[in-house]
Amino acid sequence: MSASREHFSSRIGFILAAAGSAVGIGNLVGFPVNAAKNGGGAFLLMYALFVFLICLPVMIAEMAVGRNTAKEPVGAFKTLSKGSKLWGAAGFLGVLTPFMIAVFYMVITVWIFGYIALTVTGHLDYLASDVGFGEFINSPYLYIALIAVAGIVSFILAAGVKDGIEKAAKILMPALLTMLILMVVFVLSLDNAMAGVTFFLVPDINKITPSVVNGALSQAFFSLSLGMGILLTYGSYINKQTNIPNSAKLVAITDTSVAFIAGLMILPAVFSFNPEVNPSELSDSSVSLIFTFLPKIFLALQTSLGYVGASAVAAFFFLLVFFAAITSLVSIIEVPVSYLVTEKKHSRKKALGYLTLTAGVLTLFATASFGMVPFFTEFTSYAGGTKSLFDVIYDVFYDTILPLNGFLLCIFVSYRWKKKQLSEELSIGNENYKGSWVEKYINFSLGTFIPVIVLLIFINTVATKFFAANLFGF
Ligand code: PHE
Repeated sequence: MSASREHFSSRIGFILAAAGSAVGIGNLVGFPVNAAKNGGGAFLLMYALFVFLICLPVMIAEMAVGRNTAKEPVGAFKTLSKGSKLWGAAGFLGVLTPFMIAVFYMVITVWIFGYIALTVTGHLDYLASDVGFGEFINSPYLYIALIAVAGIVSFILAAGVKDGIEKAAKILMPALLTMLILMVVFVLSLDNAMAGVTFFLVPDINKITPSVVNGALSQAFFSLSLGMGILLTYGSYINKQTNIPNSAKLVAITDTSVAFIAGLMILPAVFSFNPEVNPSELSDSSVSLIFTFLPKIFLALQTSLGYVGASAVAAFFFLLVFFAAITSLVSIIEVPVSYLVTEKKHSRKKALGYLTLTAGVLTLFATASFGMVPFFTEFTSYAGGTKSLFDVIYDVFYDTILPLNGFLLCIFVSYRWKKKQLSEELSIGNENYKGSWVEKYINFSLGTFIPVIVLLIFINTVATKFFAANLFGF
């Protein structure tokens, strides 16, 4: 059981697994569209600054807490606060959040699986039709897809850290990167592709409003899988030789590069496959973009490649997104798995069994909240709108609690565990750390402006999401 903690076999294995968690649907679809609509190159620059100046210190702190304690969020917070109940509760939030986010992420991954199945079997035209997505999300076949996705994720997690998570990342991440590059080369070789590149990259500083700044920071935070206990838990599986700041930097660079490269795929594809497109049609939500807009774009390709060719390109794209989603899903479910194994002393298989069952049932309910079952579809209402169970999980955990978890982590590390301890941990595997400007920057930022900024985001989200009040004008 937890007596001897499992470990990643190598630094590169750890980096790939962490990058696998970070690279997700947000990078492949959310980022390109956000960047293109909100200032192009100017957004890109701002996003990169946020990643390195604000998110990276948080990521490093999460990994350091994990490695120091060799525990998941609950155990780690309890150990370092010498058993404080309050900090234990903060740790529990760090386990509950990933569990709930896993439910909503699972619904989307199930849909992607369904889209692969339908494009491969020749139904791209149906998915591109106006009724396609609406009917699809209410199809009972989704439950078969749910069993398949839960099966794949459990299969990977059951094999453990080294033989499951690390091995899957070592196969899926290079495959994902290769597919992404192939897709970019293909898309950029088409006519009119440059219009998309221009739309993506030309800086427009006028579009940078306070709400865009807020959006960019939130996007960077989610994209790096922060506040979900994931990097803390993965950090507990690394050995003392690993240089944490350098590894974290590589994860951040990989994540940001994938987001950037994805922009060179999505936007030129939009412009080239269908030159008639009006950029304002691009939706802000990744969900409607992937599931309703992109199938139409892929179908437009049939004039040059034929229906089979267009379907093949679409299936290839959905498979790419599926790989990205699976490695994220694995990482997020590992947090509660690790909690049940470390704190509750269950075997890994038993923990997985419980979680697959509970998360599976919740996913079932969330999947049914798009019209199938009225109780889940009209689950509650706030801020003047009816909300489905899926909306509630998304709003509460993904949008709201994540920044709160980030805030708690910064305060915990700086004022409870203390900066001196953080420095000690980070200098293991990195002799030059102490006294470096990186150390000074991390210690200063984590104790001052980073928690202030994430707290403001949290307060603003609560006000706008749940009370329809815009406190700060963004
Ligand atoms: N980083 C992921 C993304 O960009 C977000 C995520 C990670 C979501 C892990 C769930 C689990 O899509």
